Amino acid sequence: MESFKRNKIRNYYGGIAKGVTANAKSSCCSGSSCCGDNPETAELYSPEHIKGLPIEAINASLGCANPLVFADLKPGETVLDLGSGGGIDVLIASGYVGETGRVYGLDMTDEMLMLANQNKAKSGIENVEFIKGYIEDIPLDNETVDVITSNCVINLSESKEDAIKEAYRVLKPNGRLAIADIVQLKDVSDEISQSIELWVGCISGALNLDEYEKILKIAGFKGIEITPVSLYSKEMLKNVARSKKLDDMYKRLDEEALDGAYASAIVKAYKSTGCLD
Ligand SMILES: C[S@@+](CC[C@H](N)C(=O)[O-])C[C@H]1O[C@@H](n2cnc3c(N)ncnc32)[C@H](O)[C@@H]1O
Repeated sequence: MESFKRNKIRNYYGGIAKGVTANAKSSCCSGSSCCGDNPETAELYSPEHIKGLPIEAINASLGCANPLVFADLKPGETVLDLGSGGGIDVLIASGYVGETGRVYGLDMTDEMLMLANQNKAKSGIENVEFIKGYIEDIPLDNETVDVITSNCVINLSESKEDAIKEAYRVLKPNGRLAIADIVQLKDVSDEISQSIELWVGCISGALNLDEYEKILKIAGFKGIEITPVSLYSKEMLKNVARSKKLDDMYKRLDEEALDGAYASAIVKAYKSTGCLD
């Protein structure tokens, strides 16, 4: 049975995908910045990364950092992007792994998968495949993937332990994780930590650094590095809330408690067969 939270998350991201598709359809232009670039995307991705991508892939970007900067992808590798959304990271990764490599994007939301497949068709990229499923129950065989990327999705999971265990299962020996995520840096009130809207908006489900490391270690990962990269001030969170149409919810929260409580982070870890710590 689908949980209430998962259902909310699916509806929320399904709505975003529909909005991106509708905006593109009603737009006067075809693939230029007059459609209105997403300012958050411009901060995360260099012009080289997004060059040539369909505007709908760029406008659907909902990540919190750019995993392609630290994933160190190589030609011929197989990549799995957990919670691939409109497909921006999958499409960028395809260029790194080249014709001999393959990139899978996994998402549970039909509308996002439809948008991602449209973006794939528009871009003419062939070495990628979008698959439907849950990050907590990945529909791929054991030891089939070299690199797992993900961008602002693990924090949404109600069972992060299962998601990380599944990531470990499908990675080949010596495979690696390159994840962008949100982490929690200080204690917050129950009101904040239990806010369904903040959870759905990628914030309140975040793990603290110790919890994240523990889950990765229990799954078997080694060489774990979790590095906060961008602290979320109350002003930034207010803007995020506004961009996610969560202003009313934000107004009810204690801004001072939220200030600096969360950050985007990069998470690296290895399914090492060697002697990494
Ligand atoms: C914040 S968006 C990020 C999308 C994409 N990674 C990006 O950077 O634009 C989260 C995405 O994860 C998907 N998602 C959330 N929870 C999931 C789960 N448990 N299993 C599979 N997909 C999930 C949502 O449908 C949505 O497309």
